Amino acid sequence: MAHIIGAFACSHTPTIGFAFDKDKARDPTWAPIFEAFAPVREWLLAQRPDAIVYIFNDHVTSFFFDHYSAFALGIGEEYAVADEGGGPRDLPPIRGHQELAIHIGKSLMADEFDMSFFQRKPLDHGLFSPLSMLLPHQPAWPFPVVPLQIGVLQFPVPSARRCWKLGEALRRAVESYPADLRVVIAATGGLSHQVHGEGCGFNNPAWDLEFLDLIERDPARLVDMTQADYARLGGMEGAEVIMWLIMRGALSPKVVRRHHSYYLPSMTGIATLVLENQGVEDAVANQRQRELIDHQLKGAERLPGTYPFTLERSVRGYRLNHFLHRLIEPAHRAAFVADEAAACAAAGLSEEESRLVRQRDWIGMIHYGVIFFMLEKLGAVVGVSNLHIYAAMRGLELEEFLKTRNAPAAIYSVAGKSAGDLAWDRPAAAP
Ligand code: FE2
Repeated sequence: MAHIIGAFACSHTPTIGFAFDKDKARDPTWAPIFEAFAPVREWLLAQRPDAIVYIFNDHVTSFFFDHYSAFALGIGEEYAVADEGGGPRDLPPIRGHQELAIHIGKSLMADEFDMSFFQRKPLDHGLFSPLSMLLPHQPAWPFPVVPLQIGVLQFPVPSARRCWKLGEALRRAVESYPADLRVVIAATGGLSHQVHGEGCGFNNPAWDLEFLDLIERDPARLVDMTQADYARLGGMEGAEVIMWLIMRGALSPKVVRRHHSYYLPSMTGIATLVLENQGVEDAVANQRQRELIDHQLKGAERLPGTYPFTLERSVRGYRLNHFLHRLIEPAHRAAFVADEAAACAAAGLSEEESRLVRQRDWIGMIHYGVIFFMLEKLGAVVGVSNLHIYAAMRGLELEEFLKTRNAPAAIYSVAGKSAGDLAWDRPAAAP
């Protein structure tokens, strides 16, 4: 089973990435940042983890207010560097550990954390700023990540206590992973800072040092603090340090501190911390957790012709689902209608994926990992009713399938006002 070796925590201010990119290691203003991160880097490279579960917040780069969520777990194959306004930094994408991510996602849901899941989102300085200082990354990053994005910017946000409980659940999730993996938890954010309003520029180094002490020795004192408490002591944006509680909740009550540092160069107190986990895995509890993970869908695999749209299917079918989902965009839809083969090729679909779409292999697409609601979009574009699709999936002619319905004349689709020729919707000719 997987083992949590320990954790590192640090600020994720863009200053860190800036100092790295501009090669300021010998500049006395910036050198303390390099010195603070060097022992963390050394520790991390010595551990050679199989994966880093990386807790951070996005800064309204890839996670906008059209859909803002509290706990978003990355289950993607890899993550590119986000463009935050001036073009992306010159860093390669980092691999995701998909199997571990999916297991963690299932386990957290089984523990009643209502997670959201993302794939193929570029990630911003919350992840890449410290990582670029911590790991060699040319031509590729040495270890994969499982990104866990916390929505701490649009209130209400999760409480400190909720973050602590998520950390406890994260520990159960990692330790119940059936393969032997060495896992490091990373928490980022803070320390004290405020970057908006007349209160901009607020810092509180005394509180930062107290926080560093409490997170190691007495984290229980931090879990009942409100967000206003955190803002009063560490500035409004500094309240993001509640993310450190997720990391701390995933470790044993007693930990060994290997390193800590604190430096306040400009707007944000930059801290680094390394804690080693002293916990021992409990094989019985981990088996129980695996049973809990399987509990809700147990037996569904025996339902004939039924394919729950799981995280595994979502990952496998992502490219094809994405292609079909984009049929809600008029330009993509028009390009598809004009030349299906060219549109499939331009989107990078594999030969098999392209064949499934172009041959309207409805049941083939379901078997492949497409969710039904993409099929009805394709149907709407090409003038095929939902009932035609249902009949085809059952291996029946339309008339045969309609006989199984209470209202056999009811034929419909999700087609809107710009749909093509819906020949099946013409009234029957008078006898
Ligand atoms: Fe942040």
